[in-house]
Amino acid sequence: MSTPNTYHQAPDSITSAPPGCPVHQPWSPLDADYLTDPYPIANALRDEHPVFYAPDLGHVVVGTMDDIETVFMNPDVYASTNVQDPIFPLCDEAAAVLAAPDFDPVAVMSNRPEPDHGRIRTYTRQGFSNRRLKSLEGYMRERATVLLDRMVAGGSPAEYVAALAFPLPAEIVFRFIGFPPEDDTLIKSWCANRRAFSWGKPSPEQQVEIAQGMVDYWRYCREFVAERRERRTDDFTSELLDAHDADPDPANGTGISYREVESVIYGFSFAGHDPVTALLCNTLLCLLPRRDQWAELCADPSLAAAAVEETLRFESSQISWRRITTQDTTLAGIDLPAGTRLYLNFASANHEPGVFDDPETFDIHRDKANRHISFGKGIHFCVGNGLARMEARIALELLSQRLPSLRLAPDQQMSYFPNITFRGPDTLQLEWDE
Ligand code: HEM
Repeated sequence: MSTPNTYHQAPDSITSAPPGCPVHQPWSPLDADYLTDPYPIANALRDEHPVFYAPDLGHVVVGTMDDIETVFMNPDVYASTNVQDPIFPLCDEAAAVLAAPDFDPVAVMSNRPEPDHGRIRTYTRQGFSNRRLKSLEGYMRERATVLLDRMVAGGSPAEYVAALAFPLPAEIVFRFIGFPPEDDTLIKSWCANRRAFSWGKPSPEQQVEIAQGMVDYWRYCREFVAERRERRTDDFTSELLDAHDADPDPANGTGISYREVESVIYGFSFAGHDPVTALLCNTLLCLLPRRDQWAELCADPSLAAAAVEETLRFESSQISWRRITTQDTTLAGIDLPAGTRLYLNFASANHEPGVFDDPETFDIHRDKANRHISFGKGIHFCVGNGLARMEARIALELLSQRLPSLRLAPDQQMSYFPNITFRGPDTLQLEWDE
């Protein structure tokens, strides 16, 4: 049973095209050719119709930077309450699993409307203090070095997702939250399929399996927070609990409730690792074939931050996000009734001529690459952006210094997990001279 602030609210049906809105019959972001390389198609779609309805998706697609920013900057008109929801209706069996009486996380991230979102964000932002990021940087370098040592010891070629790109971000965000290292494997198994649940089209069997993992994970989060309540340490969960103790009743417009603390922990583990894994891979997919730019980075590792920024623009790990209209409105001349679901196409905006010079060229020296939209904009701007950027930078610094001969293994077929939003290869084979 859902309540107004349910964390995941599956739609009952796919909404139809707003009257007067252009319709692009055959396209879906789940198409095989789009998953392989979205950019030529996204560019063509944007140029044909900046705003159009995609029937397979049941969403109105918004393709230009200007329109996407308008949406992000007007949260009263374009709500973010749908961002964690499944795109398609759930089967009855999966809905029954999620109806477990103790599966009751509340919306606490972008999926919570104002004014509560702003109240909760005050506390989530505090977790990313300079002090905490500094202390995590040391741990990050240490763990990345251990994982890299292991990869190198295993010899060339190596599979990068399993070797470093998956374990590093997971371990960082789990230590940030405070989860004990011995639970890493279990937690990873619960979170791995969230991409399919909220952003893919899983089969009924997969829906049930994922739903069970989500319920198990929620129960784990609750136990973990209860345990931390008794024994605080220097981690994000303890900090949230301290904040709760200091101001436990949000009824007066400040403070954070105990259920909200539990729910923030539930939400962070996915947000904090899946897109970062993809970003770590995408930096290499962009840099390694462009040997001049890779050589420059090897000679000057201080270019790593710029290389990460250009990757976030050129080959982002997040190529879309969603919104829903709260009232009748008009965008780019198209009338949108209240309740219209929007697919904001970051892929086309991040490659838009007029916003970026020569947008199809990857260039680590690009001026204002950070004009990209990959972390969103406005009141929901990604709170983890500093952490994600830091992880990707450190991984690149270490790899470029340790393995200048690093290259993509030839003839590998890239595969991408079918979903509408997150983009990174399932596996990435790397080679180097030994
Ligand atoms: C490359 C990696 C990442 C990408 C591309 C990314 C992208 C985004 C985007 C586009 C939003 C805006 C959501 C909206 O407007 O509705 C967002 C919000 C958010 N991100 Fe990230 N993110 C990344 C990494 C992280 C990390 C590492 C964390 C935490 C450890 C994190 C936590 C969050 C949270 C809590 C929000 C919600 C903020 C709010 O609504 O106030 N993200 N992220």
